[in-house]
Amino acid sequence: MPKRLYTIGVGPGSIKYITDIAREAIYKSRYIIGYKYTISAVESLIDKNKQEIYVISLKNQEELYQYIYDRMKDEEYCAVLFTGDVNFSESEVVDRLLEIFGEKNVEIIPGISSIQIAAARSKVPLDKAHVVTFHVTTDIEQKKKELVRSIILRKDIILLPRPWPSDSEKNFMQSEIAIFLKENGIDTSNLNVWVFEHLTNDSKETVFRGKVSDLEGLKFSDLSVVVIDHIR
Ligand SMILES: C[S@@+](CC[C@H](N)C(=O)[O-])C[C@H]1O[C@@H](n2cnc3c(N)ncnc32)[C@H](O)[C@@H]1O
Repeated sequence: MPKRLYTIGVGPGSIKYITDIAREAIYKSRYIIGYKYTISAVESLIDKNKQEIYVISLKNQEELYQYIYDRMKDEEYCAVLFTGDVNFSESEVVDRLLEIFGEKNVEIIPGISSIQIAAARSKVPLDKAHVVTFHVTTDIEQKKKELVRSIILRKDIILLPRPWPSDSEKNFMQSEIAIFLKENGIDTSNLNVWVFEHLTNDSKETVFRGKVSDLEGLKFSDLSVVVIDHIR
């Protein structure tokens, strides 16, 4: 049997949101890879005596995936942990992992996404909303146009902003979103918004409720979800 990979969504931060099937896949894996934040959320499930833990960063991830793949023996399992759901706003990395391990050797285990928690908190159903991630490295101009169109059509919006600490031009966080919408003809002083930070983290979670225009000049955590809702 070849080397096998689980890509696992471990929920937005609290262990309470991890599924049983995700737990089983973590127990079964010899190699556990993830960002510091993701690993710390499930630390209690990992046996450091039996499992090898690798903390990745944006800079070393490509190198590390390849290193671990080369190090693995046949029939061993590796788990790459993702925040929320693997199937939302993670495809740049997942596509690369599918390439390295081969599609048939990868099992994707879904998790509960930060956008699902934001939908629950704001009571905006996912099926009625325009759900979009700006948390990508590729061009977002088309997505920005679609955002304006959806707001004009009075659709509710659930979105992940784009933090880009090393290049403020590429930032598309709450303040930039508010200014962009205003410059594109939207009356942002009449548009309701929620900003949810640190969802499911009992001691850090915050909720902002106001108008989109209030977001101008405000700073929020990278770990945040924005919901724009029209008065029903
Ligand atoms: C690369 S995307 C991954 C999204 C993830 N796969 C999901 O389903 O939630 C990272 C972004 O997800 C959002 N996010 C993840 N966890 C969050 C949390 N606990 N609270 C608020 N936003 C969160 C933030 O916008 C963060 O910058």
